[in-house]
Amino acid sequence: MKAKITASKSNAIGKIDRRIYGSFIEHLGRAVYNGIYEPTHESADDKGFRGDTLALVKELGVPVVRYPGGNFVSGYNWEDGIGDRAKRPRKLDLAWLSVESNEVGIDEFQEWARRAGTEVMMAVNLGTRGADEARNCIEYCNATTDSYYANLRRQNGFEEPFGIKLWCLGNEMDGDWQICHKTAEEYGRVATETAKVLKWVDPSIELVACGSSDHHMPTFGEWERTVLDHTYDYIDYLSLHCYYGNYRGTEDFLARAEDMDRFIKETASICDEIKAKKGSSKVVNLSFDEWNVWYRTKDEEKTAPRWQSAPALLEEKFNFEDALLVGCMLMTLQNNCDRVKIGCLAQLINVIAPIMTENGGGAWRQTIFYPYLYASMHGNGTVLRAECDCEGYKSSEGWDIPYLYTSVIDNEDAGEVVVFAVNRSLDTDLELEIELSDHKGYSLCSHTELYLDDLKATNTKEKELLLPTEREITATSPLLKKHSWNMLIYKR
Ligand code: AHR
Repeated sequence: MKAKITASKSNAIGKIDRRIYGSFIEHLGRAVYNGIYEPTHESADDKGFRGDTLALVKELGVPVVRYPGGNFVSGYNWEDGIGDRAKRPRKLDLAWLSVESNEVGIDEFQEWARRAGTEVMMAVNLGTRGADEARNCIEYCNATTDSYYANLRRQNGFEEPFGIKLWCLGNEMDGDWQICHKTAEEYGRVATETAKVLKWVDPSIELVACGSSDHHMPTFGEWERTVLDHTYDYIDYLSLHCYYGNYRGTEDFLARAEDMDRFIKETASICDEIKAKKGSSKVVNLSFDEWNVWYRTKDEEKTAPRWQSAPALLEEKFNFEDALLVGCMLMTLQNNCDRVKIGCLAQLINVIAPIMTENGGGAWRQTIFYPYLYASMHGNGTVLRAECDCEGYKSSEGWDIPYLYTSVIDNEDAGEVVVFAVNRSLDTDLELEIELSDHKGYSLCSHTELYLDDLKATNTKEKELLLPTEREITATSPLLKKHSWNMLIYKR
């Protein structure tokens, strides 16, 4: 099969905000405990943080990490996780039916984030709590005043404020699984009032309001309209979440990137509809702050033994085809960089994660680690609109799906054009022609490939079956193997 991509500087989508390569750590399963924190681990540092996972997070170059949830945040008292550890309460977490020891809270997490070279994206509890606790929390984290919560932070050993710049107004408040789920009206009101007090305490922050927790929520559309009607003047971003699974065969699974693309474009349109309705000059952008493949371990908490501390929950074992879709979803974020400014791969360690650990043992890279790594390392600069000429197939919805899925990024600073490309054909290699009309004199200088014959193969602690390979550059057009992920770098 042959395909052609045409891209030029004059047809650019926008500049990538590096925060689209963010991730997420929730107090859920072994994400925090035995993921980032395990004081008895041989690699643990002076604060009890695992050195092996810290190194892998640094390798990924994660710019921002959402914390502490997720569903967990809707029942969380942030004050339980500060100060003297010996006095911290053990509490029932009703989101994951676990026991939360509170050994790690914002005191520790902001320190872990500093060591990992990342920023905290903090979520406040708008389930069981509201504006009052949120304003106290931001005073504790960010205020420099001589006042109760800022002084409490100092007493706890943190003279300097944490300086957290990105705040989420609750989590998935549209979902009936959420602790204290709300109607759009109810959420719109509490989010507005919370947004006001948060920005009064620290006007330098940015705020994310909850959009839909899935493209296919029955309330999608109306939820956004109502929430934006209330919050538009006070927020900076609206959130989107989505998780996909292979329910109808691999070709259809790989077409889920198109569903994500539609979700983004439809949500952006609704933001603009409310902008027009309000006659506002402000643009509300998007925060895709939970996305991934997740289906094998969905609802696992309902059948797992209850009230365990840091149980092994949602430990999805990703295979090669999952890495292909994650690669495509990253391209979807890149190709929508004009509206999506934040993205969080959910999650980072152990829980539906690119990084896995064994308690007291090693850490390893799941298959999805690699497309995420390369997007974060090389997907920087200006995204050019890629016009593709390629054969295709039909998705289960009847959509036309080209076999080739791609993004083209002009990384001016590095003097390179980076083409990410997945060949979604399950049986045919693809000979690719690329025309970069404004990049005369550029030629292909590297071709990184992720390929396994077995789409169901996984990486385990014993063996990482999926590893990137460097393909030899020949004079002919690059060949994208059947069901492969590729990164092509062109330099002058
Ligand atoms: O990431 C796992 C869960 O998925 C999060 O807690 C929740 O926000 C979403 O439903």
